[in-house]
Amino acid sequence: MKTEIIVVRDPIAQASEIARAAAVIRRGGLVVFPTETVYGLGGDATDANAAGAIYAAKGRPTDNPLIIHVANPQDAERYAMTSPMYYKLAHQFMPGPLTIILPRKNTIPLSVTGGLDTVAVRCPAHPVAHALIAAAGVPIAAPSANLSGRPSPTLAEHAIRDLDGRVDMILDGGPADFGLESTIVLLDGDNATLLRPGAVTADALRCVCHRVDLAPAVTEVLAEHERPLSPGMKYKHYAPRAPLTLLDGDATDFLAAAACDRTVGILCYDEEKATLAGKGATLFPIGAKNDLAAQAHRLFAALREADEHTELTKLYAHLPKKDGVGLALYNRLIRAAAHTVMKV
Ligand code: TXA
Ligand code: MG
Repeated sequence: MKTEIIVVRDPIAQASEIARAAAVIRRGGLVVFPTETVYGLGGDATDANAAGAIYAAKGRPTDNPLIIHVANPQDAERYAMTSPMYYKLAHQFMPGPLTIILPRKNTIPLSVTGGLDTVAVRCPAHPVAHALIAAAGVPIAAPSANLSGRPSPTLAEHAIRDLDGRVDMILDGGPADFGLESTIVLLDGDNATLLRPGAVTADALRCVCHRVDLAPAVTEVLAEHERPLSPGMKYKHYAPRAPLTLLDGDATDFLAAAACDRTVGILCYDEEKATLAGKGATLFPIGAKNDLAAQAHRLFAALREADEHTELTKLYAHLPKKDGVGLALYNRLIRAAAHTVMKV
């Protein structure tokens, strides 16, 4: 398949390109589009065949459900059973990087939800995503636009690398703002369970929900027989080619003292560049130590860059703190490292 790549920086001025992309969605095709979290691989969420094409293009197991993206929070009515808490959260956080799991209506085929009787709903804030969904006139089912097992794409180049020739169209909207996937919550009345941490933090959710619990899979290894609340959490994700070890403690001193050569890769803080540069290790700066937003923005690109360095045999990163946006970084890194943590 020939993939058409279109740079879209202004969806209003480029309404005709958006209309063409929307037509591709409506006829059952696949369009990669930017969102404020990561790039998505979109198809018509009401079309079981389009869902099949998404799973095939990504090489994704078909029991791992897709998020449906709507143009306005109230559009969820047609596809899911909403609740007062859905609207309270929507009022605070939509459009934006929050996904809410709701009971599914029959307008969404079971193949989209991996056979579940719930459906994940998100209303993205990115102007290109919004324009595309509105023009398509159907909800857009979209997992992250990476091949299964690769880091989510935060640049159009990442999606092109993984999906060129496997989708009809890629809309290049520049770098994703946040850089980690949306926060996912499951509601039970006024209580919520956090299934995947993201830009909308647990504390922010606590300002709206009565209670917010963390699903165990967010931070822990599940036993073989345990089923995570979010099917995606059982899959090994984002594993870089060189095995990753997370350093718990004052890792700057540890790394400065460690024996290194170019086969050792370090996802380092910007402040560490000068100290570590002389050591011969291969550095991937991910932002200033206290700038969690910069680290979220850089993490997946840094993991992809590390994979390009075939000489690497080991990779190190700092173990993030679990508060605020740190929890989202922790969740992605601990899984990339297959829970390998070293106290230093
Ligand atoms: O930021 C995002 O959420 C991006 C952009 C494109 O919107 N999308 C994304 O999709 O990250 P994906 O497919 O890579 O991750 C969706 C996660 C998976 O872990 C899946 O298991 C979970 O959401 N999920 C989807 N539907 C679910 C459901 N009904 N119940 C529980 N978990 C669900
Ligand atoms: Mg994904």
